[in-house]
Amino acid sequence: MTCWYMMIADALLTLTSIVFSLMLRLEISNPGYLFSRYFQSIWPFTILAVVVRPALFYAAGLYRRIWRYATPRDFMTLVGAVLAGSIILFSVTIFVFTPHLIDVFPRSIFILEAILSILLLGGIRVLIKVSESYSGDIDWKKSDVVNNKRVLIVGAGNTGINIARELKNNLQLGMKICAFLDDDPKKIGMKTQGIPVFGPLIKLSDVVKKHNIDEVIIAISEAPEQTIKNVRYMCENIPVAFTTMPSLISFIEGTEEWGDIPSSSLKLPMSMPDITAEEIKAVVRVMQSRNLSIGSQTVEFERLVALQANAKYAVAVTNGTSALHMCMVAANIKQDDEVITTPFSFISSANCILYERAKPVFVDIDPVSYNIDSRKIEAAITNRTKAILVVHIFGQPADMDTIIEIADRHNLIVIEDACEAVGAEYKGKRTGAIAKAGVFAFYPNKQMTTGEGACLVTNDEEWAALFRSLRNQGRDKFDGWLNHSRLGYNYRMSEINATLGVVQLKRLDEFLKKRNTVAMEYNKALLTSEDLIPLKIIPTTTRMSWFVYVVRLSPGIDRDYVIREMEKNGIPTRPYFTPIHLQPFYADLFGFKEGDFPEAEAAGRSIIALPFHTNMKVEEISVVCRALKSVLSGMK
Ligand SMILES: Cc1ncc(COP(=O)(O)O)c(C=O)c1O
Repeated sequence: MTCWYMMIADALLTLTSIVFSLMLRLEISNPGYLFSRYFQSIWPFTILAVVVRPALFYAAGLYRRIWRYATPRDFMTLVGAVLAGSIILFSVTIFVFTPHLIDVFPRSIFILEAILSILLLGGIRVLIKVSESYSGDIDWKKSDVVNNKRVLIVGAGNTGINIARELKNNLQLGMKICAFLDDDPKKIGMKTQGIPVFGPLIKLSDVVKKHNIDEVIIAISEAPEQTIKNVRYMCENIPVAFTTMPSLISFIEGTEEWGDIPSSSLKLPMSMPDITAEEIKAVVRVMQSRNLSIGSQTVEFERLVALQANAKYAVAVTNGTSALHMCMVAANIKQDDEVITTPFSFISSANCILYERAKPVFVDIDPVSYNIDSRKIEAAITNRTKAILVVHIFGQPADMDTIIEIADRHNLIVIEDACEAVGAEYKGKRTGAIAKAGVFAFYPNKQMTTGEGACLVTNDEEWAALFRSLRNQGRDKFDGWLNHSRLGYNYRMSEINATLGVVQLKRLDEFLKKRNTVAMEYNKALLTSEDLIPLKIIPTTTRMSWFVYVVRLSPGIDRDYVIREMEKNGIPTRPYFTPIHLQPFYADLFGFKEGDFPEAEAAGRSIIALPFHTNMKVEEISVVCRALKSVLSGMK
């Protein structure tokens, strides 16, 4: 679309340059006279010029350029395309159009027209470069973001300057550019972009130390490979973190590979939320509305959560733990009641039972899916058992049909802890409201986020009303301002969190698709390693919602040693999970010990999560996998 606008603009500017060159050449000050008299005699040239210029720009790739990042090389391409056009125009006009269609054509027009085209068509691009902004751009300068990471850019050429400009404009990156470093004697001692240029490159170590540099950005994409290697080597020896940049334009257009990212430069995050300007704008809009709690965004968020879970009702709350607590209250769990659950989970899926002074009764897990082993549930049921709290661990649904069938036979309530499984499907059914009620959590490491936050889903109208009351200090729908019908809590989600959730939920399918691609990429890269078992997707999982990417290490491999060695390579990993029954206060309270739940304990000893997020690049995955394989082979 934009391409068409630009083509039309270029055609009109070409026409303008023809008009002005004729006026200059023929010394005519009245364009009306010019059009009525001379234009009629040179119309074939004019039509050709108006078509040829945009066509050549198109062929030169100028309409694919993002002019915000244009370099002098891009402007040279533009000059080349204009001159090539002039040669075509000259040849066709002189040898084809004259004398049949055009009587005489002053040749200096070609030169004048070319010069004016360069000025006008190039000028409009200079304007775009200076002023181009996107609807999603945030004026970071007006925010109070502090940029405290001190950065040195190696290379004061085009790449370096573009990067400096971007870092200055994107304060949210938190980087402060302290200086450039360059080998060019003409640049050393001068300022570029108001930033001093030091040099030569050999002084890297001195500059880093003198200016307390935290990170070096190597922006000499055009330098010989050996020079780049030398700079990396110097960084490693200082040592200081570094990143190697391709030229920005080729990076944006995807025409250049990142190549091997040396591991010392990696600061791979364990997880990272996918936040775009849309989310930021939505939050800013809520701030501007001054309505920060109990408002339209919470209502919309709940509508979207219910929709994605195919549930009738959704109730947004502060976090997954409070939501699980409310499920215990709604299920009328009381002191000394028993709730069956898994020991292989995040601690809050059992803590919520303790909040009501009931007893969590753990049932060991299935060693393949790591979910509660449904075959072992029945043996754990006593006459005190009131509910089963199922956790869909790592985003893979548990064996719901069997569990619900057992629960129905024993008159038990089933709650789904789907905190790690938003959007997952069990035999084609969305998790959350397959049973009585369920919880999705949205901490920033989750598939989608609300900052802090969670949402309950249920098909039971009474439970939904109860949840709304419990989260709002026990007020019922018809209670007055300070009237409270029951013991309640302040578990309300703020409008700021809810609006973030609204934007994120609309992107949930995109997130799950991308996370699946990252997971498949990991699977592919780790396929050949016999020391690892990636998570198996079981047949009842018709849609996986990848929360983390975990691998199980073969028995005998020291998991904690692997974690330490990976950390030395700049790659974070996490052990998943210390089983809940072995957490000190559970062991103290209930007398649990090693050996009580062997499958959960074996999994807890051998599973690690690797860095994983929605936008992880193939190169990053391969760096992680290479490091992991080399740590493992070094242990043999
Ligand atoms: C399985 C499980 N249950 C419950 C929770 C608790 O959610 P929150 O941290 O939002 O309280 C989490 C959070 O990670 C979880 O993974």
